[in-house]
Parts: sequence; C-alpha cells; structure tokens
Amino acid sequence: MSQNHIRIFDTTLRDGEQTPGVALTPEDKLTIAKQLDKLGVDVIEAGFPIASKGEVEAVRLIVKEGLKAEICGLARTTKEDIDAALKCDVDSVHVFIATSQLHLKHKLRLTKEEVLEKISRWVEYTKSHGVTVEFSAEDATRTEIPFLVEAYRRAVEAGADRINVPDTVGVMTPKRMGLLIGEIKKHVKVPISVHCHNDFGLAVANSLAGVEAGATQVHVTVNGIGERAGNASLEEVVMALYSLYREKVKIKTNLIYETSKLVSKLTGVMIPPNKPIVGENAFAHESGIHTRGVVEMPLTYEPITPELVGRKSILVAGKHAGTHGLKKEIEELGFKPTEEQLKQILQKVKEFGDQGKLVTTTDLISIASLICGKTVEKPKIVDLKDLTVVTGSGVIPTASVKLILEGKEYVSSETGVGPVDAAIKAIQKITDRLINVRLKEFRLEALTGGSDAVAEVVVKVEDADGKIVSARAAKPDIVLASVEAMINGLNRLLQLKAKA
Ligand code: KIV
Ligand code: ZN
Repeated sequence: MSQNHIRIFDTTLRDGEQTPGVALTPEDKLTIAKQLDKLGVDVIEAGFPIASKGEVEAVRLIVKEGLKAEICGLARTTKEDIDAALKCDVDSVHVFIATSQLHLKHKLRLTKEEVLEKISRWVEYTKSHGVTVEFSAEDATRTEIPFLVEAYRRAVEAGADRINVPDTVGVMTPKRMGLLIGEIKKHVKVPISVHCHNDFGLAVANSLAGVEAGATQVHVTVNGIGERAGNASLEEVVMALYSLYREKVKIKTNLIYETSKLVSKLTGVMIPPNKPIVGENAFAHESGIHTRGVVEMPLTYEPITPELVGRKSILVAGKHAGTHGLKKEIEELGFKPTEEQLKQILQKVKEFGDQGKLVTTTDLISIASLICGKTVEKPKIVDLKDLTVVTGSGVIPTASVKLILEGKEYVSSETGVGPVDAAIKAIQKITDRLINVRLKEFRLEALTGGSDAVAEVVVKVEDADGKIVSARAAKPDIVLASVEAMINGLNRLLQLKAKA
C-alpha cells in the first residue's frame, strides 16, 4: 500500500447497496464501477459474492473489465465465502468477523479463542491464494481494546496486508476514534483503514479523526449511502482531505458531481438538497448579502470553487434577493434593466417569495418582460398540439402526444405509473432527439379550493450538461398543467442551448 496518499476504498457497490430498498443489476454495478475507476478510487469493493448469483455475476463482470482500481470482494471467515470471492478472480478479499462481546455472545455464539482461531485459519487460507487480504474486526469500536488488538495481531501474523477498523453502528466520536487508531497503530505494523457508519451524523468526522491519528485508507460510499443512516460519504471525505487537510488523494475531484448523480440515478436514492458538495443547494445563493458577495468575489460565500467538484454557482431569485445577484441573473436571461426597472423586478420577486412561492426561471422572464416592456422570449422550439390520456382502474395509464418540434409534427405514446408520468415520457420520447433532459423536481399545488381547483405545477429540468431551469404552469387540469410546465422548461433549455 503506497504511503504517500490517503487511499480511498469505495464500498458503494457493497455496503452502499445494503441501503434499504436498493438492489443493483450486474450491468448497473458495472456502470458505477467504471465511473468510480474514472474518478480514481484506489479500491472498489464490488460485492459480497456468497450473497447471490447476481452478485457473483456483477463482481466477475467488473473484474473482467480490467479497471485500474483494485477490485475487492467481501467474505466472512468461512471457506465457502472466501472461495466464492476467489472464484471471481478478485485482486483482494476483505475478510471479516465480529469481535465485540455483544456479537460473540448473541450472533456468533463463539468464544474469544474460537474467533482468534478463525482469524488465523481463514486469513492464512485466503492469503495462500496470492491475493491481497484486508481484515476487518466487525463492531471493532465496541470491542475491548486488548482483544481487538489481539485479533488484528493474529490477522497480520496470518498474512493480512492491511487492517480495517469498522465503526459498525456509528457510535464513535472523533476524539475516541483518534485514540483508538493511535492505540492500534502501536501494535500493528500494516496500514490501517477506517470504516465509519453515520448513525449520529459523525461518519465523516470520525473517518478524518482516524486519518489524523495515522489511518492511511478510508472506506466511503458515494452520496454516503449504506445501511441505516449510511456510511462516510466519498465526496465529503475526499474534499475535506483535499481542501482542509491538504492531504494527497488520487481522486479527480471534478468528476465528483457526475459520479454522485449517476449513483443517485441508478440506486434511486435522492440527494438531499442541503447535502455538502453534491446537494442542489451546496453552491446556490439567494440572500442579497450573499449573492452580492458571490458576484464580486465567489470565495466570500463559497469555501471552494464549485468547478473543483464539477459544479457551478447558482444565484436563486427569492424573497431574500438583492439587486446585485438579481441583476446578474436577469442579464444572463438577456435583459438590460435600468436601475429603476431592476428595483421593480426585485419588488415583484419579493412579493412572490412572501407568498411562499418559488420564483422559477420562466417567472423571472415574465416579470422582467413586463417591467422592461420587452420580451426576450424566443419563438417556442417545442409546442403541444394534442394530448390524449387514458387512465382509470384496471387500465395502464397511457398518453399520446402530438408535438411541434422545430416546425415539424411528431406523435408518440407512452405508458406510465399515472397519466402525468405517461405524458412526460411521451414528450421526452420526441424531444430526446434534440435534448436529453431529466425531470429533477415536480411540485403540484392547488391554487384554489374545490374539485375545480386550479392546479399549479412547478418543474425543475436538467440537461445533460447539468444546466437546470425551473418552469411553472397553472390550469384546472392537472395533466395539462404538468405538460405545459414541462414544455416551458424544455423550451427554456433548448433556447439556452441554441444561444450557447
Ligand atoms: O460496518 C461493518 O462492520 C462492515 C463490515 C463488513 C466491515 O461493513
Ligand atoms: Zn459497514
């Protein structure tokens, strides 16, 4: 193990896949593994081969790809587990057994001596097959230290190349983690790794404390996904190591955001908007004081340049807006307001915000057009001509749409979980030839009461380059409002693309 950088051991495909409700196909796993390799992680824990046939298929598929990263498989201290991993031709096997009294008594029903024997026997067996061996003492942080040290000592004696210290149920604090790693380091002379769970929101802090105390490898998952509250997140650990600790890591940080989005898409686990580094708001600024600072000098309210992680700053119009940020946004939309006009636009934006409304890109265009007395709105590139939906109990919701795209008429049909889903898919089927967009957010609100209420739909759509626009439509028919909002968003993205 090279000692001149902190190694990133990614377990998105193993511990990350243990997120409740997540199951990846072998093809999805391969797609993620390729992206992780491009990102530059040192180790990819590709799976737990004994778990299922699909898991074996996935690990083999990843191994066959010949990636630069070390490909690892997980195994308990049993011949069946280890053989299953070895049969996948992995570079390394992550062998583990629990060491805490709680696990010994209630789960393994083994004595301490029996656990130590298993460690010696199965680490040696694994090592005799010529692979790298990483040994983990599961629930290490709730194990009495002398026994934990003895377990690691036995593993190293049997040939383990590195040892890993899992905080299996996330009970450590940074201070205790530092002390524990320091103690283990006195007795164990192979590289030490840490594996922290996030039950108290301390996984990243505990991992960093481990590094401060001498650990040279960190287990992480993309977006922090994993069992219960998840694992230490790759993006937070890597960026803290790089920017705050000035440690060397081999990660191409500018690929972090696209990796996060890929994992979110394939696992179906949404990224909270306030998540550090990759959350939608991580580089978004609304308040006047902040937007002014960011327009003048981005570092005033940004700890790192967003480009470092493959992102861009976003200025958001809202009730806390100030003239500086708003001016920049309005100018980017193609307007050149006078000072007086800018004040009036700001006033309207604040009124929107005071009503608890999000100011979408298309709202801002309408407000600015009205106040500046001019329209920057280009002719629509895509327009709806006809929409028919079939829905009800016992039928598969189906939508047929007729669109005008760049002057030509196109028709398509799709099914979905409901009529809105079907209609949006049918639209995308046509517009995909011009632009690939993802519906990031969909909000529906009734503006009035009663069954004839006007439905207001706000959508956020994102193109393949990460450009996001929001758009709104209000109509008494929910499906029509949704389709119109989607088409407004698509037009805006297409117009921006045409301008670029
Ligand atoms: O959290 C844990 O203890 C684990 C082990 C398998 C290392 O994931
Ligand atoms: Zn774990």
